[in-house]
Amino acid sequence: MNRMKKILFAYMFAVVAAGVRAQENLPVYLDDSQPLELRVQDALSRMTVEEKARLSYAQGKFSSPGCPRLGIPELWYSDGPHGVRAEINWNDWGYAGWTNDSCTAFPALTCLAATWNPELAGKYGKAIGEEARYREKDLLLGPGVNIYRTPLNGRNFEYMGEDPYLAAEMCVPYIQELQKNGVAACVKHYALNNQELWRGHIDVELSDRALYEIYLPAFKAAVTEGGAWTIMGSYNKVRGTHATHNKLLNNDILKGEWKFDGCVVTDWGAAHDTYEAAMYGLDLEMGSYTNGLTSESEFGYDDYYLGKAYLKMIKEGKVPMEVVNDKAARVLRLIFRTSMNRNKPFGSMCTEAHYQAAYEIATEGTVLLKNGNGKKQKGLLPVQPGKYRRILVVGDNATRNLMVGGGSSELKVKDFISPLEGLRKVFGEVVYAQGYAAGRPMYGQVDEIPQTVVDSLRNDAVEKAADADLVIFVGGLNKNHQQDCEAGDRITYNLPFGQDELIESLLEVNRNLVVVLVSGNAVAMPWLDEVPSVVQTWYLGTVTGKALADVLGGDVNPSGKLPFTYPVKLEDCPAHHFDELCYPGDSIREVYKEDILVGYRWYDTKKIRPLFPFGYGLSYTTFEYGKAELSSDKMTDSDEIQLSCTVKNTGNVAGKETVQLYVGDEKCSVLRPLKELKGFQKVSLRPGEEKTVTFTVTPEMLQFFDDKTHEWRAEPGKFKLYVGASSADVRSTAEFIYQ
Ligand code: BGC
Repeated sequence: MNRMKKILFAYMFAVVAAGVRAQENLPVYLDDSQPLELRVQDALSRMTVEEKARLSYAQGKFSSPGCPRLGIPELWYSDGPHGVRAEINWNDWGYAGWTNDSCTAFPALTCLAATWNPELAGKYGKAIGEEARYREKDLLLGPGVNIYRTPLNGRNFEYMGEDPYLAAEMCVPYIQELQKNGVAACVKHYALNNQELWRGHIDVELSDRALYEIYLPAFKAAVTEGGAWTIMGSYNKVRGTHATHNKLLNNDILKGEWKFDGCVVTDWGAAHDTYEAAMYGLDLEMGSYTNGLTSESEFGYDDYYLGKAYLKMIKEGKVPMEVVNDKAARVLRLIFRTSMNRNKPFGSMCTEAHYQAAYEIATEGTVLLKNGNGKKQKGLLPVQPGKYRRILVVGDNATRNLMVGGGSSELKVKDFISPLEGLRKVFGEVVYAQGYAAGRPMYGQVDEIPQTVVDSLRNDAVEKAADADLVIFVGGLNKNHQQDCEAGDRITYNLPFGQDELIESLLEVNRNLVVVLVSGNAVAMPWLDEVPSVVQTWYLGTVTGKALADVLGGDVNPSGKLPFTYPVKLEDCPAHHFDELCYPGDSIREVYKEDILVGYRWYDTKKIRPLFPFGYGLSYTTFEYGKAELSSDKMTDSDEIQLSCTVKNTGNVAGKETVQLYVGDEKCSVLRPLKELKGFQKVSLRPGEEKTVTFTVTPEMLQFFDDKTHEWRAEPGKFKLYVGASSADVRSTAEFIYQ
């Protein structure tokens, strides 16, 4: 067909389609061939003020209405971010008891971040999006991108570490791929919800620099690059006002500076005031209790702050119509993108492809922390199957289903391979001893374990260890209250349930000990020098046991790198270095005194040696880095320069290495961290293979946020580039002048 014919054909088709529409009198808002904004405006023009206002608050625990009169469907929500949560009752927190709502549990987001592999983040988003769609959900509540500020935060396992650049790079593909299913991401918890203790009211004070440089970049990337359709306003206060209806966060930054066209959804029960909710950017109010407050009543949802009180204010002229229309338009846009999207796929559940994605993420995110000390102490990994006759596995986490508990991210899994099952598949009949008791996951409570139980479990494990050729200890934290669990922070940095003492006792009878830590947080390791091999596995979900056994057995070469620093002791951590006002606050206020020096920025700049640095992780092979070469030693505002560096696999097995690029400003009129992550690339190398990694260095990578002029800028002068295998293992540097 020539071009003219094609145009004529398209024109005729449009005329016929318009005719059909006219015949059927199909309103514009129902016609998905029309531009989105036209449809939104058309729907708005047909709605009463009551109908517009009704879009903005819940009708059930995980549902909000559309406009039934116009055939505009409602929205269905599900918790994420690691899988699609089992169905919850309409009006209370009980599970509905369905039998068709089990899912794939994907590895926790800390594990995803530890892969340093954005391609896997895309696979995560695609797979979880397909499961959400299969369950007919329109919003998936995740991913979480709050910054790791203290190892005590009970919800760190749902986030992506301490560095804004890493979290930003990893959340964008997750969101993009998820939303291709017609399921909205709901990025949480916006913003500064960096602890669970007093999360409902703690009032965070911090500098503009810390806000813009550390705590906001991942949210910004989620919106401006990921194109997230919704964002969840957090429980806490920021500079005096609840974050979920906060003028600075919502109106000025999110909808102003970042031009977000989606909806701000409250965290469940996070709204506190009708006028603020109306005026300061909240679009959808969801709730924890029937009426979003504290009591239960038959028509409780109307008692929400954006319920009848909002409508009354509108009618009294206290809320301008343009605000009402803007809110309604945002919800309609969301509905058109999700529940009313006719082009979305059907989704799928627990497929081989989902398990495969989960497995790749789980194995690539597992971090080998120690394997010998490079001197006399030899590493025990990988464990050749058949090498040890009597293998003993010790630890409660070897058999525990770690998808249960932890708060709203709890999942009902269709399949689960426990570490013990996985290890038995690879290593044959291993013996098991529980070693310690950790109690049940109970909301807001901790089980008391009688001393007799503690003693007998320990004695049993030690006795069996004395008889074993190799001991694999699988411990760490779990999803109980005051561990890795919502609504409470950890109370100590040490391992709970007497595990430190147990590890010491095991060492006394057997030095062939591998420690596997399952957690979403750093822990103290007083026994580290004496234990030959240590592995960090996070929460790996459905494929847990298989992924762990394949890494320990050497089928998979570990390539995970830490997404946050492990301090030697809690006081070394920036949030704990100051007084209680800095963490956890005085129960009313909290002041982020460490300012921009969060994570490695602090340890680097203050020269404090961490237990394990950010970006760290070993492999069963070794990598040699070449010299960093720059395409130019000068850069201007309108330039970019290239940095390249070779990396070679110098060992005997194939492996993957994440090459990290950090930038440091040598001299500046404001405090700058020694260096900041600005790029990373994961390369796969066969034994002996060498590859060249190239980074583009742009002027934006040099900038800080100037809180006096409210703009990003860099000062002319010397900048240093660091190429490293971790933030503390710099292999080569290069300098250039920015002018
Ligand atoms: C949590 C959210 C969650 C919501 C709904 C809240 O308590 O903070 O992350 O999405 O509950 O379950």
